[in-house]
Amino acid sequence: HTSVILDCDPGHDDAISIILAASKISPLEIEAITTVAGNVDVERNTLNALRVCDIAGLTDVPVAQGSSKPLLKKMEVAEEIHGETGLEGPALPDEPSKQAVDQHAVDMIIDKVMASDGDITLVPTGPLTNIALAMIREPAIIPKINKIVLMGGGTFGNWTPAAEFNIYVDAEAAKIVFESGVPITMFGLDVTHQALATQETVNRLSAIDHPVSHFVVDLLKFFIRTNQDVFGMDGGPIHDACTVAYLIDPSIFDVHYVHVAIETRGEFTYGMTCVDTRGVTNREPNVNVAYQLDHHRFWNLFEKALKSYSG
Ligand code: BDR
Ligand code: CA
Repeated sequence: HTSVILDCDPGHDDAISIILAASKISPLEIEAITTVAGNVDVERNTLNALRVCDIAGLTDVPVAQGSSKPLLKKMEVAEEIHGETGLEGPALPDEPSKQAVDQHAVDMIIDKVMASDGDITLVPTGPLTNIALAMIREPAIIPKINKIVLMGGGTFGNWTPAAEFNIYVDAEAAKIVFESGVPITMFGLDVTHQALATQETVNRLSAIDHPVSHFVVDLLKFFIRTNQDVFGMDGGPIHDACTVAYLIDPSIFDVHYVHVAIETRGEFTYGMTCVDTRGVTNREPNVNVAYQLDHHRFWNLFEKALKSYSG
């Protein structure tokens, strides 16, 4: 199995990613779920992570709340996509059955990685604030992190013409993480926009009769609508779920090892991931960038994961 820490800001696609990771087809051992300010403020993201734990049956997984704002920049949220709660759409349990642990996410990440045999994979699906802070606070974790499989960036933007939301929200943190030397696999918009949930997806998944799949279908309905309204897309890209799908079956994705730099000073390009697809910089590659996914196999895996909850 693969031990993972899911560092997230749930968030519809983050929630779906957790549900995939917790499914019976997943070989992932979830060591912890850590939260960060992103889609909404960290308190609401934490509450949502706890709710998703209840829904996915993750009773024993600790949830630790993390950074409430980016390293340097003012906080920015994505309520127009995720709604007021951050997880608008399905009926949400009011009071989650467990509480967040009494430890900051950054300390939790440091402790878990330091206590490990170097086998923990970090899976960030929100801004990279917690991961960067953990690396600053305890640099000894850097060689002990197995790898980082993250959602962020791409060769175009969704928050600005150049930048994707997760990287844009805290580009200083992203720069620290991308320059850390830890092996990174990046799921940016190029590939996550191919993981596009549509009405057809909703119809297909609605055939599964289980509270978990009902919850996901209700998330998708809301998420498809806001992505249509705000971005004019033909559906809702379930960005974050690509990370977990990759960890379950890497052969679904087409990945290339290239150099990626994080822009933190550009007037128009702050938060851009400068992906050297064509190798024009002659810089040593530092990131595995996912470019393509196999549509058919991606949704088959997704459907199998949801069905696995029924027994
Ligand atoms: C990313 O931003 C968030 O809104 C989503 O959860 C995803 O992680 C996509 O740009
Ligand atoms: Ca996210």
